[in-house]
Amino acid sequence: VKVYITDREGVQHEVMAPTDMAMNLMEVVRSYELAPEGTIGVCGGMAMCASCQCYITSDHQLNEMEYDEDAMLAEAFHVQENSRLSCQIPITEYLDGLKLTLAQEV
Ligand code: FES
Repeated sequence: VKVYITDREGVQHEVMAPTDMAMNLMEVVRSYELAPEGTIGVCGGMAMCASCQCYITSDHQLNEMEYDEDAMLAEAFHVQENSRLSCQIPITEYLDGLKLTLAQEV
């Protein structure tokens, strides 16, 4: 599926995210190197670091937050209404056209 990712410099990238590799959005950001190594996905996708925080800017209704994600975002910096941890969002067909912006590094 095609997703639009705005990096921390404000540049939008159109990337293809595979639905058949059990990947999440954080891994997509990493695979396209849209954030410097070591500044995203620090906890390896365990909802324990918030380095993968992003803002969902399209109208997609995503999977509900699990407790861990909700708790992590309650402690994170720069949190907004549309904040999610990108490691907690699996790539599915539904994400086609999704737009997200990476939160600033903390
Ligand atoms: Fe650590 Fe997502 S990679 S919370």
